[in-house]
Amino acid sequence: MSASLANVAYIGATILFILSLGGLSNPETSRRGNFYGIVGMTIAVLATVFGPRVTAEGLPWIIGSLAIGGGIGLYAARKVQMTQMPELVALMHSLVGLAACLVGFASYIDTSVVYSGAEKTIHEVEIYIGILIGAVTFSGSVIAFGKLSGKIGGKPLLLPARHWLNLVALLAVVWFGVQFVQAPDTNAGMVPLAIMTVIALLFGVHMVMAIGGADMPVVVSMLNSYSGWAAAATGFMLANDLLIVIGALVGSSGAILSYIMCRAMNRNFISVIAGGFGTGGGAVPAAAGAQPEGEITPVSAADTAELLREAKSVVIVPGYGMAVAQAQHTVYEITKLLRAKGVNVRFAIHPVAGRMPGHMNVLLAEAKVPYDIVLEMDEINEDFPSTDVTMVIGANDIVNPAAEDDPTSPIAGMPVLQVWKSRTSIVMKRSMASGYAGVDNPLFFKENNRMLFGDAKKMLDEVLGALKA
Ligand code: TAP
Repeated sequence: MSASLANVAYIGATILFILSLGGLSNPETSRRGNFYGIVGMTIAVLATVFGPRVTAEGLPWIIGSLAIGGGIGLYAARKVQMTQMPELVALMHSLVGLAACLVGFASYIDTSVVYSGAEKTIHEVEIYIGILIGAVTFSGSVIAFGKLSGKIGGKPLLLPARHWLNLVALLAVVWFGVQFVQAPDTNAGMVPLAIMTVIALLFGVHMVMAIGGADMPVVVSMLNSYSGWAAAATGFMLANDLLIVIGALVGSSGAILSYIMCRAMNRNFISVIAGGFGTGGGAVPAAAGAQPEGEITPVSAADTAELLREAKSVVIVPGYGMAVAQAQHTVYEITKLLRAKGVNVRFAIHPVAGRMPGHMNVLLAEAKVPYDIVLEMDEINEDFPSTDVTMVIGANDIVNPAAEDDPTSPIAGMPVLQVWKSRTSIVMKRSMASGYAGVDNPLFFKENNRMLFGDAKKMLDEVLGALKA
């Protein structure tokens, strides 16, 4: 394939990626968006593999690697549980970072192209920054993978004088950068480059370790953004325009997503990055925050069905537990039944429900729930006082009134779905365990709240059975 044909293919792929991002911004067009992305990526890979820069001897290597990498990717994507998606995504981000590092070292020791003067300096700066971003992305994503999969505890690691440590690391990186660019030859340059790589790897570990469980959603989107910049840096090193453009697209959309996440959780972006916010992780009650008091009122599936039957308006709040139980199909069966009886049923989606952005929207779309009854938090929060029954399905942190009432709570200030304002709320979960942020939930003790204990899928099947009876 000639260079100009490859360029035309790259431009086509770029346009498809932009259309893809546009499509993914709305559930109704997201399928089309995904399709554009697949076509764009296929064109990009073909134009690169058969492009002017791959020689005939290199081709079998590339095709072999494509087959191995593609095979592993296909296997992982088919095997992964929906609840493990965030971990898989974190792991994929780490690979982008690793690739940027490897490309950086490879292009530094590559002697086939000789640079001189200003070009040489620019090329070396590209390599240095590329490896820096790549190494931070790699180690940060590996730690994020550990935290999201529960292999590493969610508690933030707060080293004494951690901000000073970061500052010293930054100054060291700049100093070694100057040494690197001034190095007389590759051998001499390799030392500062390797030291910077180690510092960057440690910085990535430190950065993500310092972030508490409750702030992990921001970390996931932040690393998403970093992986984009790492790809863009790789593009600069390889002089590949497509990688630069796509990296910038991913980098900036990840940054916008991080900002949206921070706003949804009422967190300051800089403070999240600086670390220390949010504590706990998985079912460990947090030290801070008042212990809720009072009695809980359990309810049976049959009584839940009765409450639903008498209701005129019902709001369903799905959370992580619905994903674990894979209860979305039964939820929709119940929704259809109630709607057929004239009940106004709507879904309330919190921006950080579940474990990844859009988690609940994906599950509900899979169950074919119509989009017009799926509402964002801001669209539905005012409607709770006029709601008869709110069913909370495996959600916890996102409906915790302590976020509003208790300034000492680790999730204080995070906007939540005000389900306690409805006439009756029913919380479905297996036990009194806390959610991801490790905070107790006073909602369970409210007078108008009922607890339906059990696996969400099993309990909803029983509710459905009782409704049909
Ligand atoms: P959580 O607060 O984590 O609560 C989920 C609840 O589901 C748990 O309390 C658990 O209680 C219950 N559960 C688990 N398995 C269940 C099953 N099979 N059947 C019924 N219930 C089950 O979830 P949430 O309310 O969706 O809030 C999300 C949390 O995750 C937030 O703290 C958020 O910051 C964090 N987070 C979000 C993201 C993104 S991007 N969305 C990423 C990382 C972290 P039992 O054990 O008692 O059943």
